[in-house]
Amino acid sequence: MAIKKIYILAIESSCDDTSAAVLCNTKVLSNVVATQEIHKKYGGVVPELASRAHQQNIVPVVHQALAEANIDKKQLSAIAFTRGPGLMGSLLVGASFAKSLSLGLSIPLIEVNHMEAHILAHFIDDEGMTAPTFPFLGMTISGGHTQIVRVNNYFDMKVLGETLDDAVGEAFDKSAKLIGLPYPGGPLVDKNAQLGNPRAFDFPKPKVEGLNFSFSGLKTSILYFVQRETKKNPDFVAENITDICASVQFTILEILMDKLKLAVKQTGIEQVAIGGGVAANSGIRARLKDAEETLGWKTYIPKFQYCTDNAAMIGIVGYLKFQEKQFTDQRVGAKARYAIGS
Ligand code: KG4
Ligand code: ZN
Repeated sequence: MAIKKIYILAIESSCDDTSAAVLCNTKVLSNVVATQEIHKKYGGVVPELASRAHQQNIVPVVHQALAEANIDKKQLSAIAFTRGPGLMGSLLVGASFAKSLSLGLSIPLIEVNHMEAHILAHFIDDEGMTAPTFPFLGMTISGGHTQIVRVNNYFDMKVLGETLDDAVGEAFDKSAKLIGLPYPGGPLVDKNAQLGNPRAFDFPKPKVEGLNFSFSGLKTSILYFVQRETKKNPDFVAENITDICASVQFTILEILMDKLKLAVKQTGIEQVAIGGGVAANSGIRARLKDAEETLGWKTYIPKFQYCTDNAAMIGIVGYLKFQEKQFTDQRVGAKARYAIGS
C-alpha cells in the first residue's frame, strides 16, 4: 500500500529569523530562512525591530517556500507554527499568520514548542543524517538556549539542566565583543581558536551544582583579564587574539563536556544528540567525535541548516503531531515562556 503523503507548511518566527518550510512526511521540500541583518549594528537582537521585520518577511518567505517545494497551498494537509518560547512580538506574527491561513484553507493548525523542535530536528529524513534511537540525551546550544534534555520518546522529554543566566552562544558573542570582534562573534572565535593555544590563558569554570549551566562569570573574568593585560600592553589583544580565542573556547567546551559527561553518568544514556547554532563550532564537533572513540558514546549532529533556527524543524514536529492528530484550537495564543513538557 502506498504511504499517504502529508504536506505540512511550517512557520518559525520566535527570534530574528523568519522561516517557512514545506515537508512531505519526514522529507524537507523547502526550508527558506530570512535572516534579519538589522540587528547586527546593535550587537544583539532588538525585539521591536524583529517583530517589524517578521511582518515584512512572512508573506514573501511563505510564498518562496511553497514555490521552491512546487506545492500549491490547496495541497497542504496542515499548518504548523512556533507557539513559543521566544520574543512575544515575533511569535505573534507567525502565530497570527498560521491561524489565519489554517482558517482560510480549512486545514488543521498545529502548535510547536521551539525547544522540542530543536531536538526533534534529528528525525528529519535527509542525506547523511541518522536519527537517534530512544532514549537519548539532547543538548540544545545556541544564542538563546543551553539545555540538556532526556528524550524518552517524541513527546516524552524531561529537561535535566539549563542555563541560569547567559546562553552558551551569548557567552561566545559577549566574549568576542570584549576583544573587539563583530556580532555575532561565535564563528570568529571558532576561526581564531583553530590557530591558537587553548592552554595559553586560564579562565575559571563556574561552580554550578548538577546539570545547570552558568556563563555570566566567564564574561566578567574575560573583561577583567583584558583590562588588566591591556594596561600593561595596549596591543595585547591584537598580539594574542588566536590564543585568547582558543582559551575562551576551550573553557566553554570544558563546561559543556563536563555537564554532558555528568548527564551520561546520571542517566546511563550514552547517545548524545546536539543542535542549535553553536553545534557548528569545530571544537564541540571534535570533542564529540573524540567521545565516540574514547568513551563509546554515539553522537548526532544534524545538518547545519537544521541546527540554527529554521522552519523545517517545526515541520517535522508538525508531521509527528499530525500522525497523532494533535491539532490546536484556533483560540491558541503565543507563549513567550514555554517549558518543554508544559
Ligand atoms: O541557533 P542560532 O542561529 O540562533 C539562536 O540563537 O537561536 O545560534 C546563533 C548562535 C550565536 O550566538 C553564534 O555566535 C553561535 O550560535 N555560533 C557559534 C558558531 N556558529 C554560530 N558559536 C561558536 N562557534 C561557531 N562556529
Ligand atoms: Zn532556537
